[in-house]
Formats: sequence, structure tokens, C-alpha cells
Amino acid sequence: MLSKVLSYGLNGIEGFVVTVEVDISSGLPKFDIVGLGDTAIKESKERVKSAIKNSGLEYPMTNITCNLAPADRKKEGALYDLGIAMAILFATNQIDYKKIDDTIFLGELSLNGDIKKVNGVLPILISAKEKGYKKFIIPDDNYFEASFISGITVYTVKSLEALANSYKNGDNFLKLVQPSNYEQLKKKNSQFSIDIKNVKGQQSAKRALEIAAAGGHNVLMIGPPGSGKTMLAKCFPTILPDMTFNEALEVTKIHSVAGELDLKDGIILNRPFRTPHHTASTVSLVGGGTNSKPGEISLAHNGVLFLDEMPEYSRHFIETLRQPLEDGQITVARAHQTVTYPSSFILIASMNPCPCGNYGSKKNECRCTPAQIHKYLSKLSGPIMDRIDLHIEVDNVTYDDLNSVENCESSAQVKARVNKARELQLNRFKGTKIYSNSKMNVLQTKKYCALDDESKKIMQLAFDNLNLSARAHDRILKVARTIADLDGEQNILPKHIAEAIQYRSLDRKYWV
Ligand SMILES: Nc1ncnc2c1ncn2[C@@H]1O[C@H](COP(=O)(O)OP(=O)(O)O)[C@@H](O)[C@H]1O
Ligand SMILES: [Mg+2]
Repeated sequence: MLSKVLSYGLNGIEGFVVTVEVDISSGLPKFDIVGLGDTAIKESKERVKSAIKNSGLEYPMTNITCNLAPADRKKEGALYDLGIAMAILFATNQIDYKKIDDTIFLGELSLNGDIKKVNGVLPILISAKEKGYKKFIIPDDNYFEASFISGITVYTVKSLEALANSYKNGDNFLKLVQPSNYEQLKKKNSQFSIDIKNVKGQQSAKRALEIAAAGGHNVLMIGPPGSGKTMLAKCFPTILPDMTFNEALEVTKIHSVAGELDLKDGIILNRPFRTPHHTASTVSLVGGGTNSKPGEISLAHNGVLFLDEMPEYSRHFIETLRQPLEDGQITVARAHQTVTYPSSFILIASMNPCPCGNYGSKKNECRCTPAQIHKYLSKLSGPIMDRIDLHIEVDNVTYDDLNSVENCESSAQVKARVNKARELQLNRFKGTKIYSNSKMNVLQTKKYCALDDESKKIMQLAFDNLNLSARAHDRILKVARTIADLDGEQNILPKHIAEAIQYRSLDRKYWV
């Protein structure tokens, strides 16, 4: 007999429905799975067989053929186990086939029949809902992940035996997923152990970080060792604007696919802050590879990618950042297909200005030769520098600043201003797919960054004197828009554009 059960597959974070077809025919005991599956799917046979046997159900000692359709799409992972097992139970009439309608089954089976958590449940539910599917059966461990999607019916279940029983006897072994409240959860969860008030002095660096947080702009901090670059960067998450629910869903999708989701919350509540080490492999940074997972630059989506001592990272990786810094996504090629992951992050980079660290310092003398300095700085190419909106110099903090008893502004105070500026942007971009000024396209930049005559004059002067590219020009406009938003100004004023330009002059000091 033939049976069909629905399951779901993912390519990156985009999903497609998978039909699990099982045909049972007479013949020698044999079990084949066809349909472009990976190793985990090949091994599915053993898990499904043991799970059925150990759940008090009957495993047919005949010829079983299982097809995962569409056969031309690559399928990965163990999440089809449950669908395959159910298709076998239907095909052998152990469960009434009429009862299943359009339910989508997801779950990995262990040998004793327990249903184990799978990765990617959130993106699957979102994608399947868009395609009109309404009913799902998923592992119990993925309960909270499912609780943020409204308009669908999701049941969780602990074991194959419980699932079979609830179909056979009507006993309710399934748990209906109840909706969770994102705002409530977030309130409980926004504590940080650090605060920007502990960074003494460095007013201009703090100002630049505030602008970056408000508008989503990239930052490069240059300065001697010990000046507080790493410390400033680590405080950056504490002043980031609150994440909207939609942003949180986008982030959670990626972390869910990567298997990095905290199953207790089921959703990511704070903006990611990723600090990959410079020795990490390119695959782990960029994503892809045999198991095709999102890399650090995608896990940083809607949050921060912090590259401490940026010239230490491989040139190849640094150049790979060009696409995400421009388009907010990364495409990785694989054997059978390409995968695109969202990758829209704020880049915070820090570096010493030269190998000894003192080039350009007002306090200490640099011991490097011009050639050494040039080689060091050239690790960051022109195209990369062009994509970094705010270049700031962080010199060593003075003794007086360090020992000042005066209270610096707290993270909460800065964050309040940032949130206000971000509100303005969310209103401005309502109904579009962007959330911040930094992501404006050409048309939006034209529309929202109009300059008065005086501002235009300032801009032209800078354009000629600083030898700016068209990209730098547009990025300056966007930064100016953010500065105006922090000021609560409808229009960009000359002082806003002047400040924005000032953050683009450092590459001329060091890189020329
Ligand atoms: N502005 C500052 N205010 C308070 N402490 C500072 C400041 N700058 C540096 N420090 C102290 O110096 C340490 C080293 O700073 P760090 O951020 O690692 O410097 P960098 O990354 O520039 O080499 C910090 O952990 C902190 O204790
Ligand atoms: Mg450091």
C-alpha cells in the first residue's frame, strides 16, 4: 500500500514542503530512501526501524520504498524521521490514514522512539504558514520556538508511541502550543553586567558609538593598545536600540537553523553581539560548508559583529565582508546549490594604527618604519574602508579623566536617546523591509537626506578635498540623517553634515 505524509525542508532559511511517500510491497525485507538525501537521511532507516519496533508498533518485514519529493532538491538532517515513520504506520494500516489531513510532521527519532529536537523549526513554521499550511506536529523540545507564530495550530509530542496512540485511541498525548508574549519576555531579560559609564573620558568615541547604535552604522576605532577600544566595543550592546518583534524573528530564524537557539525562550531577545576570533575558519565566519550552516556574520544579523584587531583576520575574510556590508546578506556556494543568509549587522572594528601601536599618538613615539605602517594598514583595503561610516581615533585616556570622580552618562541614558532616534526611523520606514537609516537605498537616501544650500556647500568641499567616492558620499548623508534624528530635527542641518564628514577624515590621515 502507498501512503503520503507531509514534512518540510530548508535551503538556508527558505523552506519548501517535502512529501514523504512510502510504498510497501511484498518481497524480501528491504528499506530504501530515495530523493537526494544526505548521510543523516540515509541513516534515518536504522532510527525509524528501531523506533517503530521499540514503540510497541509493528515494523513490516517486507519491501519498503520511501521517496522524499521533490526529488531534485537537496534534503538534509534528521528532521524527516518522524514523517517517514508515520508514513510507514499509515501504509501498514496501523493508523487510520483519513485522520492526518495536511499535517506537517517534523522530528528526529531516537532508537527508543523518543522524538528529539530539530533545528530550523521557526523558519519552517513561518515559511509553511506563508504557503497556507496550518497544522504541525513537532518535538516537545521545540515548544517555545513555535509559540511566537500566530494563526497556525502546532502540537508537540514526546514520543512516537504517544503520537501513534493519540491517532489510534483518540487519547490526547499531544500538547497544543499556546502563544508566548515577546514584550513580556523581553522585559525580564534585558540586564547587562557592564555599563558604558565605567569608560572614563573618550567622549568623542562614545558619541560616535551612539550615532552607530541609533542608525546602524559601521565603526572603526583606531588607537594605541590599552586605550579602551575593546572596552568601548563590549559596552556597545548596552546602548543598542530595543529589537522589534520582526527583527527578533529574523534573528531567531538564523539561530534556529544554526542550532544555536536557547530552547527555554524559543526566541532571541537581545541583539546578537558576535566576537569571532581571528583564528576561526572562514567557513565558521562566513557560513556554508558541508553541513551548510549560517556563519558568524549571519548570526550577527540585526546585531553587532565585533572584529577586535581587524588586521589580524585573513585578507580573504575581510574582503568577503564586502557583500554583506553592502547588501545585508551573504551568498555561499555549495556543491549542488547556493544558499543566501541574511547578514545585516553593525560592524565594529578596532585596530592599532601600526605594529607597535603608537603611530599617530600624541603621547608615545612610534618605532615602526613607514613601510611597516603601510603594510599593516593595507590589510584593510579601500573598498572595505569605504564601507565603514564612522572612523574614530581613540587615544590613551588621560590620568585626570581616568581618575575623575565626575559621573559619566550611564548606558540607560544613552540608550534612551538611541531608542528615540530609532523610533523616528521605524516610522519613516514603516511598510518597508528596513529598520534603520544605514540601510536606505539610493531612492530613499535622495528622499530623506535632502540638503539645504549651505549643507550642500560643505558637502561639496569635503567631496573634493577628501577625494570621496560616491559610496562615501551617500554614507555620509545617511550618518547625517541619523545625527539629525538624534537631534530630533526633521531636516539635516549644516552642523549635522559637518559632524558626519568629520568621521570620514581619518582614513585620509592614516591610509594616504
Ligand atoms: N577610558 C577608560 N576608562 C576606564 N578604563 C579604561 C579606559 N581605557 C582603558 N581602560 C582600562 O584598560 C584596560 C584595557 O583596555 P582595552 O579596552 O583592552 O584597550 P585596547 O583594546 O584599546 O587595547 C581596560 O580593561 C580598562 O580596565
Ligand atoms: Mg583591544
